[in-house]
Amino acid sequence: MIKKTILITGWVWYIGSHAVVAFYEAGYEIVIVDNLVNSSTDALSNIEKIIWIKPIFHEVDLRDRDWLEKLFKTYDFHGVIHFAGLKAVWESCEKPILYYDNNINGSIVLFDIMDKYEVKNIIFSSSATVYSIKNESPLDEQGELDSINPYGYTKLITEYMLRGLAENKWFNVILLRYFNPIWAHKSGYIWEKPDGIPNNLLPYILDVASMKRKSVWIFGNDYDTIDGTGVRDYIHVVDLVDWHLKAYELIIKEELWISNGFCEVFNLGTGKWTSVLEMIKMSENAIERPIPYEILSRRKWDIATCYCNPAKAKKVLGWEAKLSVKEGIKDSWKFCGIYK
Ligand code: NAD
Ligand code: WQD
Repeated sequence: MIKKTILITGWVWYIGSHAVVAFYEAGYEIVIVDNLVNSSTDALSNIEKIIWIKPIFHEVDLRDRDWLEKLFKTYDFHGVIHFAGLKAVWESCEKPILYYDNNINGSIVLFDIMDKYEVKNIIFSSSATVYSIKNESPLDEQGELDSINPYGYTKLITEYMLRGLAENKWFNVILLRYFNPIWAHKSGYIWEKPDGIPNNLLPYILDVASMKRKSVWIFGNDYDTIDGTGVRDYIHVVDLVDWHLKAYELIIKEELWISNGFCEVFNLGTGKWTSVLEMIKMSENAIERPIPYEILSRRKWDIATCYCNPAKAKKVLGWEAKLSVKEGIKDSWKFCGIYK
């Protein structure tokens, strides 16, 4: 059987790297593009240590129409997994134009070229940030949509663009709204980008555990939650990318039956929640090191509680999160060992 070729945009280091491994292991040909704005090519050789081949990589900015078009002329893509984008909420508040330009214009150029070359299958990395803060957890896919920051708006606008393309241009679209992806591949070779000050909780905890930083700053202990700290739905990145495989199988199945496009949306989370203090305690137990912390005031854009109802993904994609918190922390810790 001829292997299907998938274009993966924005793959370096984190979720995209894990997807490259999962899709390659499932038998797809992979072509990857990234402009390396937030990353370096070290990840390429790390992936090679897991799958034993160097993936085909092109350094391309999605807004570079000529370059992107060359790729669509060169390869016979069956579909696209669209991860590329800037993702720091705080930065999007400071530099909204950068985020709208990069995330929206990059997507417009990509979708336009997909349409031109009749590549109609796409999975898009959306986010729990597209749910209005008026909703209460557990959030399901019918929840009211809105955002409180430019990053979230870029996800919402891209979702709407893809809905329109499904209706009017017969794209086969799956929107995946991630909750809090964390942890790492069990090999220890890929994880979140190792440079700089981490924005998210677990990378920060592991920086403290590996003594790069003195203590974890807990942003607020006066929320209406189990212990006053923020509560989130943490999903193992390996489970998350396995869901992309299931979603892609659904696209392949549906495109055989539905000739005029569709758009489905799924929450990707566990439906379980963990507080910041619980995460620190679980990390201390898993890696057997003390993790000091200090209580600071709340972050401006934070909410108390965010977790999902994952029933639709379980029912339609036939998949549910399998990996435990403890396994996740240990796998991430392996990566820190390699990069210490
Ligand atoms: P990441 O920063 O590790 O990966 C994104 C990649 O996109 C980077 O390698 C970056 O260089 C590349 N990129 C950015 N703009 C580009 C452009 N114009 N052209 C080409 N490449 C470009 O982030 P990640 O955590 O792996 O996230 C992947 C996707 O999932 C993003 O779209 C993000 O918004 C979304 N997402 C992430 C989370 C999370 O917590 N990590 C949660 C929800 C959604
Ligand atoms: C988790 C909890 C913090 C760091 C963000 C984006 C969201 C999505 C995922 C892309 C909160 C607390 C954190 C720290 C802390 N990304 N915390 N000390 O804020 O749920 O979501 O990443 O789509 O859009 O907003 O994740 O890991 O930053 O925070 O106390 O150093 O940990 O207050 O309660 P968040 P996070």
